[in-house]
Amino acid sequence: MFVNDCLNVNAEGHLTIGGCDTVELAKKYGTPLYVLDENVIRSTCKSYVSSIEKHYNGNGLALYASKALSCKALCELAAEEKMGLDVVSGGELYTALKAGFPVEKIHFHGNNKTYDELNFALDNNIGKIVVDNLTELETINSLCVEKGKIQKIALRIKPGVDAHTHDFIRTGQIDSKFGFALETGEAMEAVKESIKLSNVELTELHCHIGSQIFDIDPFVTAAEIMMDFIRAIKDETSHIVTELNLGGGFGIKYTNKDNPTAYDNYMNSVSRAVHAKAEQYGIPVPFIYIEPGRSIVGEAGITLYTVGAVKTIPNVRTYVSIDGGMCDNIRYALYQSEYTVVTANKADKEPDTVVTVAGKCCESGDLIQENTKIVNAKPGDILAVLSTGAYNYSMASNYNRIPKPPIVMVNNGEDRLIVKRETYEDLIKNDIDL
Ligand code: LLP
Repeated sequence: MFVNDCLNVNAEGHLTIGGCDTVELAKKYGTPLYVLDENVIRSTCKSYVSSIEKHYNGNGLALYASKALSCKALCELAAEEKMGLDVVSGGELYTALKAGFPVEKIHFHGNNKTYDELNFALDNNIGKIVVDNLTELETINSLCVEKGKIQKIALRIKPGVDAHTHDFIRTGQIDSKFGFALETGEAMEAVKESIKLSNVELTELHCHIGSQIFDIDPFVTAAEIMMDFIRAIKDETSHIVTELNLGGGFGIKYTNKDNPTAYDNYMNSVSRAVHAKAEQYGIPVPFIYIEPGRSIVGEAGITLYTVGAVKTIPNVRTYVSIDGGMCDNIRYALYQSEYTVVTANKADKEPDTVVTVAGKCCESGDLIQENTKIVNAKPGDILAVLSTGAYNYSMASNYNRIPKPPIVMVNNGEDRLIVKRETYEDLIKNDIDL
């Protein structure tokens, strides 16, 4: 009935997630409220782990891209599910360390890691730094010389693959701020430089072509290009790159228009391409990393809001205003992302009214969805926005000094708080009294 498997409707006609009544959750924790279904997250992690087992004989590791949603509970969960972790800032790294995440399974990404962040990563012996540019490469090497250590690195490569997705979340093409381009020779130059340097060890190549991608072909093409490059490196330098990171980007279902294919299908096609190239070139099949973020947490999450004002402008539109907005979900404002909206306390009724769901921020563009059909919503009703597990909490802000909502994890009818609601006191804790 709903886009997400974890959702249902109970005898009261209320939307449920993970066996919990969303109206009760809203009462217990207040709104806005992020809710995550633990079983969905764990079973998605398991499907990646078993897919790697199946297609690469276990010779690989799925890293959870924690930018999708970083908090201690999720880092702990990812570790329990035998995943590695992709972090992209000192803050995400700190969160992982505080959660006791195994450091050797952490990859540190970013196109402009600061000196302090690199120092922090090196001091904590994290597994791999994914180098984005030559300045960073030299900084890492000289820090390692000072510290008397050797750091394993990956190089981020732009494979030149154009994945069909929103412009802002496309990263594999030549005009991208991320990584080294193949076409210009920049990537080979970075390889040669890495090999020359004394205190870094180049073991891995990385690419990530974009996010929310449904086609399998761009992933296959990217993998082939990367295998070609591994061979070119061997031919030109005799250096064997033994690990290949193919990034994340697998699409999820936001509305019934989205039709993602099972992850195992990506794995199957990509692994065939990798194995075929390895055989053709007489090189070992590299250890494979993948970095799913959105697909781990996205469909597992919903956001609950309480409806306040409902404003009908005759012959224009009806605004249904909620107690959150772009401060907890900026994705419509930023990318016009489509979402499914459900009136959670009337989830057994057929949607009958076309409305615009508006946030409470002082900004006309603060909308969650336009022209969406929902069950007629009145003040006090609970709205659920579906598939908000990824890139919602992690992109939340305190615009208008609105405190960030809490996150509740549900599992087979049980609920537990994993992130507290921010308080007004939290908002002013860094303000200096004059
Ligand atoms: N690896 C790298 C290097 C990445 O840059 C990303 C996402 C991922 C993995 C995870 O990709 P995923 O599996 O989640 O698609 N804020 C945007 C998404 C930005 C994605 C950035 N990089 C959104 O809300 O749609």
